[in-house]
Amino acid sequence: MTSKEIRQSFKDFFASKDHQVVPSAPMVIKDDPTLMFTNAGMNQFKDIILGNAPVKYPRVADSQKCLRVSGKHNDLEEVGHDTYHHTMFEMLGNWSFGDYFKKEAIAWAWEYLVEVLKLDPDRLYATVFEGSPEEKLERDNEAAGYWQHYLPNERIIDGNKKDNFWEMGDTGPCGPCSEIHIDIRSEEERAKVDGLLLVNQSHPQVIEIWNLVFMQYNRKADGSLEPLPAKVIDTGMGFERLTMAVQGKTSNYDTDVFQPIIAKIGEITGVAYGNDTRKDIAKRVIADHIRTIAFSITDGQLPSNAKAGYVIRRILRRAVRYGYTFLNMHDAFMHKLVPTLIDVMGDAYPELEVQKTLIEKVIKEEENAFLRTLETGIRLLDKEIAEHKGSDRNELEGGIAFQLYDTFGFPLDLTELILREHGMSVDHKGFNVEMQKQKERARNAAAVETGDWVKVRDGGTEFVGYDETECETQVIRYRKVKQGILPGCPFQVAVLCRNGRPDRR
Ligand code: ALA
Repeated sequence: MTSKEIRQSFKDFFASKDHQVVPSAPMVIKDDPTLMFTNAGMNQFKDIILGNAPVKYPRVADSQKCLRVSGKHNDLEEVGHDTYHHTMFEMLGNWSFGDYFKKEAIAWAWEYLVEVLKLDPDRLYATVFEGSPEEKLERDNEAAGYWQHYLPNERIIDGNKKDNFWEMGDTGPCGPCSEIHIDIRSEEERAKVDGLLLVNQSHPQVIEIWNLVFMQYNRKADGSLEPLPAKVIDTGMGFERLTMAVQGKTSNYDTDVFQPIIAKIGEITGVAYGNDTRKDIAKRVIADHIRTIAFSITDGQLPSNAKAGYVIRRILRRAVRYGYTFLNMHDAFMHKLVPTLIDVMGDAYPELEVQKTLIEKVIKEEENAFLRTLETGIRLLDKEIAEHKGSDRNELEGGIAFQLYDTFGFPLDLTELILREHGMSVDHKGFNVEMQKQKERARNAAAVETGDWVKVRDGGTEFVGYDETECETQVIRYRKVKQGILPGCPFQVAVLCRNGRPDRR
């Protein structure tokens, strides 16, 4: 099956079980202060789950664009280095709001995987919550009982609170969960080591594919658990991992979700995939990150210097630097991947095609802006790394990391990433001190003392920056300032733009 067919088959399966198939919510969140980005399919249903909004459809299914790069769920550091974590990924999910519960959720998950997708049942495992005395919660015997209809006892594994009690964030809906894991190793390897021993052990080929959450509580800010008004099923399956299993691959990047993008990177860079570990990592990072960046822009989050915008800028700069260092890409190239991404995902997410020009333009500008300072920054960092290598200090001074951040646009995590490649780290305390000092400077600089405006002639100012980079002007008023906005200039001046069009105000 192609990935497009797999995505559709999931929706069709749950539609056949009376689920309403709904569109993905945007990946960028503007109305929930506890989250910057959608990190799970259930986010758009949070208010329904908490009982604050009415249930429109008691059974729902979808494929949701998710991003896990900040907060409680953050996979950024694994991306590209392993074969199955992503920043942006699609989560296939089905929900019941006060309708069916554990029995049906488990039965249908099994039916879909084994009967529809024909995955080998001998390669599947289920985990159940072992209970938690501190939370006064018991083992989930009910879920374990249902699993016994499908799996032998030894393949139903107890899991702790970290793995088997799912929470949306520090507060919000939560509950015990049952994960389905799959062993995609070769028969030979399976004969050598029992897959049972590898579940939840970060093995790249014995991995979780589907999480069935039995939502029963709301985690309050004081840490206590309050029962939800109704029991809720919230499931999430990693679409890229599922595709890997169905297509018989051992890396998400070898599926048709990523291969066209990786091939395009190969075409642009002239570097083949599969010959050099570091170059392969770089390609996987870029193939992953282009999705995050393109979808964020589509959903209204442009790269910027603050909050969610800075998360996107950081991700873009990471990708640019991987291309620069490992694939010798010294010119902007990421924006050229957008048409290929649209070929792969445009059917399921038509908003990509609609916003194509904007996505390409924003990415290209961001790439160029960073490339202007990247080389000098890397040279500075290389020099520091070389100097530290000869000594026993493996921590870069905070001041240098700050200079890289402030002058050369290196996000701190990028500097850390590069240093890690050389067994080094950053002095965070020193970095924070410099950051604080800069904030003080900015605050002082903003407190400008001014004289009164002196009027020269009538007229209002007009901003023409969207159309023009230069224009003729006339001063209409000015005032003296103690601390100039431009260094060395003791005046603030208001100008009327003439530019051959004196009637424009
Ligand atoms: N909300 C659950 C998860 O994200 C399904 O794993």
